[in-house]
Amino acid sequence: MNKQSPITTSPLHVSVKHDSAIKQVAGRADYIDDLVEPEGTLHAYLGLSTKAHADIASMNLDAVRAAPGVVGVLTAEDIPAENDVSSVHKHDEPVFATTRVVTWGQPLFAVIGETREAARRAAKLAKIEYRELPHVTDVDAAVAAGGKLVTEPLKLERGDVEAGFAASQHRARGRVRIGGQEHFYLESQAALAIPGEDDEITLQVSSQHPTEIQVMVAQVLGVPHAAVTVNMRRMGGGFGGKETQGNLFAVVAAVAAKKLNKAVKIRPDRDDDFQITGKRHDFVVDYDVGYNSDGKIQAVTATYAARSGYSADLSGPVTDRALFHCDNAYWYPTVKVNSLPLFTNTVSNTAFRGFGGPQGIIAAERWIEDIAYALGKDPLEIRKANFYGTDSNNVTPYHQVVEDNVIHRVIEDLEQSSDYQARRQAILAFNKTSKVLKKGIAMVPVKFGISFTATWHNQAGALVHVYRDGSIHLSHGGTEMGQGLHIKVMQVVADAFGVPVERVQITASNTGKVPNTSATAASSGTDLNAMAALDAANQIKARMIAHAAFIYEVEPKDVQWEFGGIRAGQQFVPFDELATSCWMNRVQLSAAGFYKTPKIHWDRTTGRGHPFYYFAYGAAASEVTIDTLTGEYQVDRSDVLEDVGRSLNPAIDIGQVEGGFIQGMGWLTTEELWWDQKGQLRTHAPSTYKIPLASDVPRIFNVRLAEWSINKEPAIGRSKAVGEPPLVLGYSVVEALSMAVASVADYKVAPQLDMPATPERVLMGVERMRRARAST
Ligand code: MTE
Ligand code: HPA
Ligand code: MOS
Repeated sequence: MNKQSPITTSPLHVSVKHDSAIKQVAGRADYIDDLVEPEGTLHAYLGLSTKAHADIASMNLDAVRAAPGVVGVLTAEDIPAENDVSSVHKHDEPVFATTRVVTWGQPLFAVIGETREAARRAAKLAKIEYRELPHVTDVDAAVAAGGKLVTEPLKLERGDVEAGFAASQHRARGRVRIGGQEHFYLESQAALAIPGEDDEITLQVSSQHPTEIQVMVAQVLGVPHAAVTVNMRRMGGGFGGKETQGNLFAVVAAVAAKKLNKAVKIRPDRDDDFQITGKRHDFVVDYDVGYNSDGKIQAVTATYAARSGYSADLSGPVTDRALFHCDNAYWYPTVKVNSLPLFTNTVSNTAFRGFGGPQGIIAAERWIEDIAYALGKDPLEIRKANFYGTDSNNVTPYHQVVEDNVIHRVIEDLEQSSDYQARRQAILAFNKTSKVLKKGIAMVPVKFGISFTATWHNQAGALVHVYRDGSIHLSHGGTEMGQGLHIKVMQVVADAFGVPVERVQITASNTGKVPNTSATAASSGTDLNAMAALDAANQIKARMIAHAAFIYEVEPKDVQWEFGGIRAGQQFVPFDELATSCWMNRVQLSAAGFYKTPKIHWDRTTGRGHPFYYFAYGAAASEVTIDTLTGEYQVDRSDVLEDVGRSLNPAIDIGQVEGGFIQGMGWLTTEELWWDQKGQLRTHAPSTYKIPLASDVPRIFNVRLAEWSINKEPAIGRSKAVGEPPLVLGYSVVEALSMAVASVADYKVAPQLDMPATPERVLMGVERMRRARAST
């Protein structure tokens, strides 16, 4: 703290810098591979299947065992209790395959070496004979083979769709393909297991879900949850890829550590991380939409088929969330949608920023676009015609009433600030005369439901200690993956105690301090954990106030909490002196806090309820230029407006919006996952899988928070969640590309680009438009 100008105001709603910012920039922030290794630490490496679907005829590991530096080899037989790491307890995901492999890259064994290099080299020496079986790698093949599912599908229905279609003047029927996405967290999966006495074991992990790691390790070792302690300081990115996908690695390290009584670390190479871990679900959405000449939708039916991979993992809730977002911000008078979480012989797809929601939203935006092209209008006009109302036309397909609709104001605000209408006119004029280069512009909205749809996940705990010097120790159930959760919770606690944020020491997430936590996911990390921390702080404050009232002989109501200390009658007592006084007088200065989200409920069997506490809104307008001879393109400008309610930390929130937008844009334009005929993922490194570069950021990139917004619900500080919703807005780039492509046929035909809209797909789109123009 600067001695010249002491901080005298609350740090809440202020752009306080990320608690790890300096350490990260200076390379001093610890990740798993940076931790000091206990004496004699060993290293594990996984041996993987090289078939997509096969019976294992024989597995000869002699050469692996005999390799230099190898200390041991683990197979399924070495697992003390259950050979299972399936996150939703479906028993469909073994640690090590035994008789059959169901995906390329499935773990068969682990080598434990004195060095990582020794283990890694030895893992390649296994001799495995397979009897190959037929495999399916994508949605089309899965459907053709009978459409086996990994979990129960969902159906949402409201109103009479047959009547809706009967009342429609037009139909939009189509199919949209939306690709998958690799998380590409900078820190790969990693874990360090340190054996303890008796059943005890401690793990250092890179996970969004330390409690699930604890539960899985306990299950595999056959020990009580209480014997396992999981410590998690920070991840080098998670993006959903560390909600369940770290289970395998942690469990392998734990089994090896217990067996050999040595610390064991595991960290796959990037290529192996790509081949082993699940990704975003790609979707094929088939739709039939009835609408009228005014652009108003009357009926929607759609099927959301998703490549789920070889096990259920989170595919149930992910495909559910796609259906929950089949409306985006639009009111459908009648609607019937269903999910198809399909089994495929590929990695088990999992959570990824947005969790199926973006795929649901993009399908909705696609039929909006179809309607606009069919009617010869700007898609933005069709959007406005279909937005949810504020007092009527506000019931979702899952029968929750939208009570906080601000989409009209978001769109109006962004339309003004981005000068959308004038720029669109200028682009139409440009395209008339420009031969090779064509431009496009598009504005898309987002409405995103906030809460875990599994209601019981919406709870959190925190542990707060005030030490007698007035410093504060904070631990909560959430995990830091770069999103700024810790700094926000620190701000909330500092604000509660009236102290500068530097007074609050955040500590690693630890299952021994805060038990039974939920994954840090669904964008709700701050909503849940900051509330739990506030509850703990308030308990301690109440005791401090009672103590001050007693000591200074005033009524508790006459004790005022101020920034820096308390005022008890005429007396001002600095916070640290009050803490010392509480300690001397044996007042407890520690508390465990708890929070559960109010109002929410959901009945999956009837498809009805109030699954979301509130909605977060946003919009983006993007402008692009394409080269119609090569399909190459560039994003000239993007304007983004995000509703985060009353921001707890505007700098952090802007960072989340920028990052989310670019990650969404990358997903939908350049990132392509490609499996070959044999079922091997061939895009498994930065050389073959293209994430956005700094040079891909829009030339002009204006990102704003809707400063006028305030959460109607009493969420923490009246803020709103920010982590996932902005990702969807990357779609504005695809729709702008569509417009540029459509200009080739004078906007008469909807180009219906599949995603990712790579330069190749843009070029093919241009070719289709040329043929369409020739045939009219
Ligand atoms: N931001 C960074 N820098 N790194 C991440 O891994 N994950 C995203 C989002 N923003 C992520 C991120 C995802 S998938 C979610 S659900 C939220 O952060 C989780 O954190 P929150 O609930 O605290 O917002
Ligand atoms: N979002 C993110 N992660 C989850 C969810 C969800 O709704 N449910 C279970 N894990
Ligand atoms: Mo985020 S996909 O909910 O981890």
